[in-house]
Amino acid sequence: MSNESLANLLKEERRFAPPAELAANANVTAEAYDRAKADRLGFWAEQARRLSWETEPTETLDWSNPPFAKWFKDGRLNVAYNCVDRHVEAGLGDRVAIHFEGEPGDARAITYADLQREVSKAANALVELGVRTGDRVAIYMPMIPETVVAMLACARIGAPHSLVFGGFSADALATRIQDADARVVITSDGGYRRGKPSALKPAVDEALTRPGTENVRSVLVVRRTGEETAWTEGRDVWWHDLVDRQSEQHTPQAFEAEHPLFILYTSGTTGKPKGILHTSGGYLTQVAYTHHAVFDLKPETDVYWCTADVGWVTGHSYIVYGPLANGATQVMYEGTPDTPHKGRWWEIVEKYKVTLLYTAPTAIRTCMKWGDDIPAKFDLSSLRVLGSVGEPINPEAWVWYRHTIGGDRTPVVDTWWQTETGAIMISPLPGVTEAKPGSAQVPLPGIAATVVDDDAGEVPNGSGGYLVLTEPWPSMLRTVWGDDQRYLDTYWSRFENRYFAGDGAKKDEDGDIWLLGRVDDVMLVSGHNISTTEVESALVSHPKVAEAAVVGAADPQTTQAICAFVILRGTAAEEEGLVEELRAHVAQHLGPIAKPKRILPVDELPKTRSGKIMRRLLRDVAENRALGDVTTLTDSTVMELIQTKLPGAA
Ligand code: WT7
Repeated sequence: MSNESLANLLKEERRFAPPAELAANANVTAEAYDRAKADRLGFWAEQARRLSWETEPTETLDWSNPPFAKWFKDGRLNVAYNCVDRHVEAGLGDRVAIHFEGEPGDARAITYADLQREVSKAANALVELGVRTGDRVAIYMPMIPETVVAMLACARIGAPHSLVFGGFSADALATRIQDADARVVITSDGGYRRGKPSALKPAVDEALTRPGTENVRSVLVVRRTGEETAWTEGRDVWWHDLVDRQSEQHTPQAFEAEHPLFILYTSGTTGKPKGILHTSGGYLTQVAYTHHAVFDLKPETDVYWCTADVGWVTGHSYIVYGPLANGATQVMYEGTPDTPHKGRWWEIVEKYKVTLLYTAPTAIRTCMKWGDDIPAKFDLSSLRVLGSVGEPINPEAWVWYRHTIGGDRTPVVDTWWQTETGAIMISPLPGVTEAKPGSAQVPLPGIAATVVDDDAGEVPNGSGGYLVLTEPWPSMLRTVWGDDQRYLDTYWSRFENRYFAGDGAKKDEDGDIWLLGRVDDVMLVSGHNISTTEVESALVSHPKVAEAAVVGAADPQTTQAICAFVILRGTAAEEEGLVEELRAHVAQHLGPIAKPKRILPVDELPKTRSGKIMRRLLRDVAENRALGDVTTLTDSTVMELIQTKLPGAA
């Protein structure tokens, strides 16, 4: 984050008190902080009672082998039963679980009773395909109800799922299938994006030609677009052929609280994505509690909508597991916010009378850019709490969100968390906290977080440093799939006994926390973490690229924009259209989200004596700043060369 925006944060003095009525009826009040402080484990044991356990846990936390946590380890439960069946058994079968809105305008209302039948059939289908408890299932799907059904079916039979975002390429999918050693892939012919069918199955076909994916026996394919799809006999099975003929009865079996629920890949600095492992009892406890607390969910009357894709952790925790465990009614939307018009989201809020909305700063900034007159055309008066997640939200966007979307009535909750934390960790509570635009403010009850300096010392109020979590929490990652050492190295070695989140943060004079972005080399683009190394590897895989260095440069629209410096081979520099070709190449390898905004051909890259590229200096160039310390460069003239080649580089 640039110094300029830091200064802006410091100047922010607007304050917003919780609405009196919301505060008077809030699910969680200030007393929860005291209770959790007095007895943190007792507090979480109490929250675990939100769930239905086949065997109640007697031990809350086993931290005898830190940082490998076991929460509720002698408890047994079935996650899908908790998200579906128990609501039906409680007489809520007719409650709508999902109001699905397809991009072309097709709509389906799915009740909890419907969901119970669909999940049971899908679970029986997976069993028929030979999926056993513990087998991994890769899910590469659009935003349709079958994706949720597939996830819950996996949970029901204890087969950990690994979702791969539908915007990722065949390469990315193949790497994730290999690493998790998936046995079955669930996909669809495609989904609707920007008014057109967008195919998914061809990427699965391509991924399964790669070495290391041989263990995939079956591909289960949902028909969504009806477009023609290549077919591999004996491997590919239509969902409507297999699932539809299954029995609607499936008895869920209870698993241990620490049974793996899912793996979700997140970019790391060293290129290879990390398979973040989440387990069952602790994860479900914390996603259910935080969804109840942070959104003040009243399941009988609220209509909740999280705009994230289920392929990201936000979708796992706050479309699937948290809201369904709480018996919520929610909206699920397939498409893009501007199809067929830029008011589509607000039309959906009006249509379903959405009360709780959860989205990302990048979307909020885009809507700001499109203009206030668009949301003004719709009735948004149903909204009562607005949430933000994924990156720091700048105060302007925060205030715009509250004012233009929330009619100045709605609290905005800026929720900080990560794929690794599994659930929200730092956030205001809508009925308690006096909100400060741009700050996630305080750790939730039962969560311990602080900001430390280089030597692990807690910084005083008014100072910045690194965000750390100082106590284990129920929905924490348990390890990096197949790589305990990487779990230790990435999260637990920077500071002793502290979880290192990789984010810079600052405590203000009141001790409230302001997040300042990633401290390492992972770029944050429109709410997605993208590793510099992955983009560099993609560039270098092009025959005309000799070397590449990628940095994230501050960008008002997307937080960071990908800026690549490349050394070309031979006379490639003179070729017209090469830069465009390289951008397309990256998009093809990693997906469109990773496409560099700018590619600058250079003759040399700044490197340290040990051969490490000094991205810090390139970031200075990309952000039009005076260069920082160049003394560790092998050749200090390199930067001059780059700068003279690029007058007005940014
Ligand atoms: C990183 C985690 C959490 C689900 C979506 C992203 C950034 C997330 C905030 C926020 C400032 C935030 C952090 C974090 N981040 N929420 N409210 N304020 N920064 O999950 O892909 O694992 O990314 O997103 O840098 O470390 P993720």
